[in-house]
Amino acid sequence: MDDLRQKYIDAVAGAADESALEDIRVQAVGKKGEVALKMRELGKMTPEERQVMGPRLNALKDEINSAISAKKSALADAALDERLRTEWLDVTLSGRPERRGTIHPISQVTEEITAIFADMGFSVAEGPQIESDWYNFDALNIPPHHPARQEFDTFYMHRDAGDDRPPHVLRTHTSPVQIRALEAHGAPIRVIAPGRVYRSDYDQTHTPMFHQVEGLAIDKDISMANLKWCLEEFCRAFFEVDNVELRFRASHFPFTEPSAEVDLRCSWAGGQLKVGEGDDWMEILGSGMVHPKVLQSAGVDPDKWQGFAFGLGIDRLAMLKYGIPDLRAFFDSDLRWLRHYGFSALDVPTMRGGLSR
Ligand code: PHE
Repeated sequence: MDDLRQKYIDAVAGAADESALEDIRVQAVGKKGEVALKMRELGKMTPEERQVMGPRLNALKDEINSAISAKKSALADAALDERLRTEWLDVTLSGRPERRGTIHPISQVTEEITAIFADMGFSVAEGPQIESDWYNFDALNIPPHHPARQEFDTFYMHRDAGDDRPPHVLRTHTSPVQIRALEAHGAPIRVIAPGRVYRSDYDQTHTPMFHQVEGLAIDKDISMANLKWCLEEFCRAFFEVDNVELRFRASHFPFTEPSAEVDLRCSWAGGQLKVGEGDDWMEILGSGMVHPKVLQSAGVDPDKWQGFAFGLGIDRLAMLKYGIPDLRAFFDSDLRWLRHYGFSALDVPTMRGGLSR
């Protein structure tokens, strides 16, 4: 009987599927199975033998039956696991057929600007969008109560009542990155800092969030002439046309002295924006020689070092270059607009391969 038991327990353990298991069941404990045949032999035994063998045969039958049902549920579990593994579905995927995305004009233009300035030896720096009062204003020679603070339409972060430290701000320009880059690397330095900036303003050419690129070049003998060359060179490369016309206007920024704003000749005729023609001027950047106090705030000795800085509006440049008449549409996330004005992900702007195609 021990041999019988071992034979069927092993067979059950080795069964590959439910039908093999059923064959084993019939063969072992079915009506004409081996255990049933043994039970039939009970009639020929003495009452004493029967008393021993009867319960043992019943126990064997029970044991085989329960081994079979345990194996059955193990096989069912394994089959379910296998199904779960093979029928896996990512329910977060879009149910609609996939369409190819596009590169947003802001990203494209940022890449173009970066490629042009990289060619002139500028590397890229970054700073936080939530900025302290010190970096956004004081360090840039804009002390508290300076009238320039009003001109910025600043968004202020929350401060709890009773906390009278100056609140942080959503940076109103990328100029704080001048300070951060100088603190981190010192002079000489040549960096640009592209990024988001915020001002409370909204019309055809203004949105409360927009993009600037800061430029900063500090060395021993950098002058206003270097600034002018750099910006003209930039505009010619960026607009990919020869008849770009710039206008340098004397201006004032607390963080530069002297200061100049730069306008670009353009036309709005027929609602279509064109560069290098017409009688309109679009302001695209502010610039100047970095104020000695700014260098001092960043721990750079103004008696040894000097240089220029500028802040370019990326969104304005994108509108001008690609003839996009309304800035607000840039940030509406309208797929039709994105498909119309977006760029192919494979057209990476480089100076050698061409900026835009
Ligand atoms: N930060 C100025 C602005 O946002 C632009 C600027 C940058 C002007 C650097 C001069 C030098 O208006």
